[in-house]
Amino acid sequence: MIGPAFKAVAERYAKDETALKTLSEKVVKGSGGNWGPTPMPPQASVSSEDAETLVKWILSQQ
Ligand code: HEM
Repeated sequence: MIGPAFKAVAERYAKDETALKTLSEKVVKGSGGNWGPTPMPPQASVSSEDAETLVKWILSQQ
């Protein structure tokens, strides 16, 4: 198991109105240092539209 639980992500960003945009960019470009030492690799084959759809779904996990 690598990366934070989607529910934990949804809880952390519940009140963050910029989360959809910032997290979608992180899914495409990669991310690190927010949950622990392991970075998330870039998902270059995911379009920004698809990333937004995925992040909307992740943020709906309460
Ligand atoms: C399209 C597929 C994926 C989606 C939609 C996704 C989504 C996310 C989101 C929303 C976060 C939270 C970022 C933050 O709070 O700044 C995250 C973090 C993370 N993900 Fe992913 N992820 C994907 C694929 C992967 C893959 C393939 C891996 C590992 C091989 C991975 C490993 C991680 C790790 C280690 C973190 C924590 C990074 C940090 O500390 O900033 N993810 N992911």
